[in-house]
Amino acid sequence: MSDMNFKVSEVYGQAPLKEPQRQLYFIEKCREFVSQIKPEGKPLMLVNTFGCQMNAHDSEKLKGMLLEMGYGEAKSEEEADFIIYNTCCVRENAENKVYGNLGQLKHLKKENSRLKIALCGCMMQQETVIETIKNKYNYVDLVFGTHNLYKLPELLYTAFNSKEPVYEIKTEHGEIVENLPSVRNFEYTASVNIMYGCDNFCSYCIVPYVRGRERSRKPEDILNEIKELVNDGVKEVCLLGQNVNSYGKGLEEKITFAELLRMVNEIPRLERIRFMTSHPKDLSDELIFAMRDCEKVCSHIHLPFQAGNDEILKKMNRHYTKEQYIALTEKLKKYVPGVGITTDIMVGFPGEYDVDDTVDIIKRVRFSGAFTFIYSKRVGTPAAKMPNMPDEKLVKKNFNRVLEVLNPIIFEINSEKVGKTYKVLAEGISGHDKNLLIGRLEDNTLIHFKGNIENIGKIINVKVTDSKTFYLLGEQEDL
Ligand code: SAH
Ligand code: SF4
Ligand code: F3S
Repeated sequence: MSDMNFKVSEVYGQAPLKEPQRQLYFIEKCREFVSQIKPEGKPLMLVNTFGCQMNAHDSEKLKGMLLEMGYGEAKSEEEADFIIYNTCCVRENAENKVYGNLGQLKHLKKENSRLKIALCGCMMQQETVIETIKNKYNYVDLVFGTHNLYKLPELLYTAFNSKEPVYEIKTEHGEIVENLPSVRNFEYTASVNIMYGCDNFCSYCIVPYVRGRERSRKPEDILNEIKELVNDGVKEVCLLGQNVNSYGKGLEEKITFAELLRMVNEIPRLERIRFMTSHPKDLSDELIFAMRDCEKVCSHIHLPFQAGNDEILKKMNRHYTKEQYIALTEKLKKYVPGVGITTDIMVGFPGEYDVDDTVDIIKRVRFSGAFTFIYSKRVGTPAAKMPNMPDEKLVKKNFNRVLEVLNPIIFEINSEKVGKTYKVLAEGISGHDKNLLIGRLEDNTLIHFKGNIENIGKIINVKVTDSKTFYLLGEQEDL
């Protein structure tokens, strides 16, 4: 064994077995490598995120660990010495985007011999993807999945010491690891995981296969994290889970999501609470009442309905009917005044030849926002084997019909706000226009407004002056 190998095995021998101590130890070990990468200064890293808020939040954790190792943040892939893609596989085009970008990295690697490339996230939990990467993208140095994201320091240390690419994909999740370094993408708003995974197995969806079984974090860990965020200046938290309404399942302590909301609502100096995503089948009266009672809980709910037709909903394994969904939204409107209801809609599921019921839901509920998707076949899900795929032309036509009904309603809801004043958390300077600030109303509507930059981070009164389809324009009162 060479000296180097001896040193490396000694490092592993001395590593603590418990987490997070083990990863903190490897962060220190990586720091020695990182400090030697670039004689002229700090090496730079770039985390490229695909997919949902879960991934965006995971990327904050990846970034936090890399900064602790001594990396600086790169502004572009060209200047980076370490690039990590945190991937998504919910639809085929999400995967294609990753492959497309990855193809471009090959020439960067030729130009910068120091460049290391890593892939992680949902896509990596699929065997076929791993095969493709091994065969077609053999210049990737490190690959890991969703269940061992917290192990980045240890895996990177292994990659630094290995001539071969390092692959570590776990099919089973382990314990939830708390208290690793993290950074925030935004100063005054923060995401907080309350649970991981999903047990719902909607028949079209790959998420339960790549994110594993549902497990909830302990309430005290969640509350402590939020208290620390508040001490650090955060005013608004978004509680994250694939189905927050079933929070608490499997925990020793009996607790529901509504009870958790009431506990979070008691945290001093926290001003706003949001949560994502709610599954209609688990939306209880208890939760609606908690939304009504807790002054910090924003009057907004993201409640995906996917499709309107009862037969289709059944084949999707969603466990509610069109009328049940509409009744839920009516109850929400009754108890939570001014509630903004947003949703996810999917068009083109096997057997869906028309969107009459989908359009009916849109008209009756009047959503203030929606993500719309065309169904994408995911290998390994039950829907992938279902017959009666509607043809592409029909799907496009149905999809456009949905947008034609949806967008004017969103615009109308926004227009009704013109001339009125709302409480807005000023989050920062608008990306569109440097003279404007950006923020959100309680119901989650985005607003660009004239305001004093000294008020960034505060909740202020903003008068709406104009409406666009997807956002509002306004002016701070008493400016
Ligand atoms: N857990 C969340 C959604 C996670 S995925 C929920 O249940 O609401 C986000 C959205 O992607 C879904 O709501 C659905 O509309 C869409 N989606 C999931 N799988 C899809 C597929 N195979 N094709 C097209 N859209 C899909
Ligand atoms: Fe997918 Fe359904 Fe779970 Fe949402 S609830 S992540 S759509 S399986
Ligand atoms: Fe999210 Fe995509 Fe994974 S939607 S959970 S990043 S498959």
